[in-house]
Amino acid sequence: MADTERWQPMVERASLAARKAGEILQDWRERFTVSEKSRSNLVTEADFAAEKAIHETLSEAFPDHGYLGEEGLSENASTADYVWIIDPLDGTGNYVHGFPYYCVSIGLQYQGRMVVGVIYDPTRDELFTAAEGCGAWKNGKRLQVSGTTQLSQAMCVASLPVAGDPNHPALARFIRALPHAQTIQRLGSAEMNLAYLAAGHLDAFWSSTLKPWDMAAGIVLVQEAGGTLSNLTGGPIDIHACEILACSSSTLQTELVPILKQD
Ligand code: IPD
Ligand code: CA
Ligand code: CA
Repeated sequence: MADTERWQPMVERASLAARKAGEILQDWRERFTVSEKSRSNLVTEADFAAEKAIHETLSEAFPDHGYLGEEGLSENASTADYVWIIDPLDGTGNYVHGFPYYCVSIGLQYQGRMVVGVIYDPTRDELFTAAEGCGAWKNGKRLQVSGTTQLSQAMCVASLPVAGDPNHPALARFIRALPHAQTIQRLGSAEMNLAYLAAGHLDAFWSSTLKPWDMAAGIVLVQEAGGTLSNLTGGPIDIHACEILACSSSTLQTELVPILKQD
């Protein structure tokens, strides 16, 4: 079976779930209350309501699949062949402050590899979709990474730990990379960063503090848009190992790895 036929039902269902969740996030915008899961790690009623809607929508179509979500969802996640990895709201801090850079993120893993990624930005009504062998798309338009090859020309994004220790290695990495890059931003939603990298708006993104749901969908988008993915030392990416380096070209990755790995 061709890849498009194989993954299309999953892409369509995840798109439906992501749009429903996006509506829920926007509906809660003027009335949510905020709790802290830990210092500066925020959650609202919208996060829980969106996760519930995504789970209901996906499990109706795929009752035998596994499910893993940030807000407590865990169902056959270590045993099923197909596992959906869900962040109902990536960028909760931004959402809470009305800073329009947050999204719904849904990835599908098949026998350990990421095969489908759907990211929905409800503020701009932008739906990013990708599936293994099928390309990356935004609202039906094919995406391609920028192809930037030099760090001195690159728009980079680093995620830094929230309320972090000033001696955290992520800060040292940020400072080391500063003089080499054209610019380095910190934007508050890892999945949006990966979608924007796939769309050619960003050239490099790295982090050492992510959970699987912060990167699951985005890595399929970057892969299918022609970007490169690794851990911070240039080795294979493992979504359970917290680290990611996503770049718009392999030359950029080669330039960044020695700078990032000096810890
Ligand atoms: C966070 C965002 C942020 C990253 C944090 C994540 P959340 O997710 O992806 O960019 O730096 O590590 O926790 O909490 O907003 O879903
Ligand atoms: Ca997240
Ligand atoms: Ca979240």
